[in-house]
Amino acid sequence: MIEKQFIQKRKPLLDTLSHRLSPTPPIWFMRQAGRYLPEYRQLRAQTKDFLSCCYTPAIASEITLQPLKRFNLDAAIIFSDILVIPNALGVNVSFEEHTGPKLATISSEADIKALQWKKETLDPVYEAIHRTSSALPSHVTLIGFAGAPWTLAAYMLEGKSTQQFTHARHWAYTHPTLFSELLTQLEHAIIDHITHQIHAGCEVIQIFDSWAGILNATEIAHWSIKPLERITYRLQALFPHVPIILFPRGVGAHYPEYAKACPTVTLSVDQHTSMPWLSGEVSCVLQGNLDPLLLASHLPNALDYASFLCHAMKGKPFIFNLGHGMLPSTPPEHVEALITHIKQHHD
Ligand code: CP3
Repeated sequence: MIEKQFIQKRKPLLDTLSHRLSPTPPIWFMRQAGRYLPEYRQLRAQTKDFLSCCYTPAIASEITLQPLKRFNLDAAIIFSDILVIPNALGVNVSFEEHTGPKLATISSEADIKALQWKKETLDPVYEAIHRTSSALPSHVTLIGFAGAPWTLAAYMLEGKSTQQFTHARHWAYTHPTLFSELLTQLEHAIIDHITHQIHAGCEVIQIFDSWAGILNATEIAHWSIKPLERITYRLQALFPHVPIILFPRGVGAHYPEYAKACPTVTLSVDQHTSMPWLSGEVSCVLQGNLDPLLLASHLPNALDYASFLCHAMKGKPFIFNLGHGMLPSTPPEHVEALITHIKQHHD
């Protein structure tokens, strides 16, 4: 038994998440599986639609592994979407080519009452996790994820991606009781979905509050931080060994409030926030924050920023990532060069 522990390779991402320092940061990317990879586009061309890829375990698992076959990454993130939760609550969700997600909108008390969590809808996601978990190299960590209550509510109220989710905020103010019921329902669904992902083999969980950045300070406190505080508190009571990464995208000066409310989490940082500033404000592990557009457009500048980050974060537990998801226009060669650069960086 002891011998096996010695032989087994340690997982660099798990080491960093438990505050251990390493000579080079572990590295993975949000949207590391996706349209910038020709093998993804090829597989997608043979399949019906995006959601059926997520709900077909063999395909979801294969897509999850695609970037691992090309690149020396420290983590795999299960190929799925944050909008599978509204879908499993009974909301019609579809993804149309080039227009993004479309959801049947929630607008009345009857719509909220009709929401019913059907965990079975997501059984294929858990099966994909199970398969992927046993296919991964021993040093690679498997990440599961969910959307945060505010971001999921925003899509459910608006029905699509918009710049400011103005209608969702307006509805929240005009229907305060229903809105808080919606957030509570989502909280329960998120905890259940994450629980099943952990049981299926996920070792780390990232929660995406992608639209926290459009909220004002009061809304951030009540609609983003409070529900995330309850979710992380509950999850850490259930699974004390599973690290949680929070990504409240675009919250700028409010980032430290998340660290204060949820002291055990790691924070994922977008490209608009200064990493050296934030690392002086908080003591949690940080992840981020190369601008995805920089990586897609200008490799030398991207490598310069990567060196700056590694230097600024020296002596602190740090995970290299982008400030948001990989863009479809990213040349895979840039990704390869960036990983090589990070893994060689020792100054
Ligand atoms: O990171 C990964 O590799 C895992 C897979 C993953 C996807 N979506 C696959 C996907 C993850 C972690 C997500 C999370 C997600 N989905 C978020 C949070 C992160 C963020 O971007 O802020 C959000 C807001 C969504 C909702 C969503 N899904 C949108 C707005 C879109 C359309 C935009 C787009 O890029 O087309 C999707 C579709 C989607 N999710 C695709 C992928 C690979 C593209 C679908 C396709 O193949 O056409």
